[in-house]
Amino acid sequence: MAVPVCLVEHPLVQDTLLVLRHRDTGAELFRRMATRISVLLAAEALRDLPTVPATVPTPMGEAPGLRLAADVVVVPVLRAGLGMLDAVLELLPTARVGHIGLQRDEFTAVASQYYSKLPKDLERSHVLMIDPMLATGGSAVAGLQLLRRAGARDIRILCIVAAPEGIALVEREHPDVRIYTPVIDRGLNDRKFIVPGLGDFGDRLYGTL
Ligand code: PRP
Ligand code: URA
Repeated sequence: MAVPVCLVEHPLVQDTLLVLRHRDTGAELFRRMATRISVLLAAEALRDLPTVPATVPTPMGEAPGLRLAADVVVVPVLRAGLGMLDAVLELLPTARVGHIGLQRDEFTAVASQYYSKLPKDLERSHVLMIDPMLATGGSAVAGLQLLRRAGARDIRILCIVAAPEGIALVEREHPDVRIYTPVIDRGLNDRKFIVPGLGDFGDRLYGTL
């Protein structure tokens, strides 16, 4: 059975999403909002990372606490996923980073791979694949196949807008992968864009409209 999708309903996430969606939001604000929402989403997706007890000396004595004890690998799907990377690295500055390059054909919406460079020894890592748009799910499934082949077991996907079609495909092909998203939109239009969505994320992020 498929792992349930995690809908991140935090008001700050939802408010930021609205700014990203607005057609009048320009590249500068779009980038800032992409970073803001990614920090919030990543914090949610990494909520169950393992920790170990630790103590630190405060000016007043010893304080017990928890130290992160997890190897996290972040994998942006190029190019739009790069807009989420700095946010995740702000939370996890020592995380290893893999890159997967996928490009949807403008007419068929079929994703083809043009790049892949993944860290070694993914078997025990917590892998966070970041790609803002989950539309048909073709890119996500292609990325997940590469990660699986590289040995990844614990994989989470972080996206900013998801379509039911994409979720269904990921659930069918990789039922153990958890998807974190603020929203599941109505569906896809005849060009396989998410509606209402926010348009082409990569183009809005990089000003290549
Ligand atoms: C976008 C997006 C996803 C993909 C989603 O990338 O960033 O990777 O489309 O669509 P899918 O679920 O139907 O595969 P795109 O291929 O447009 O490339 P870009 O990131 O370089 O803009
Ligand atoms: N890629 C995007 O950037 N937007 C969509 O709506 C679908 C794929």
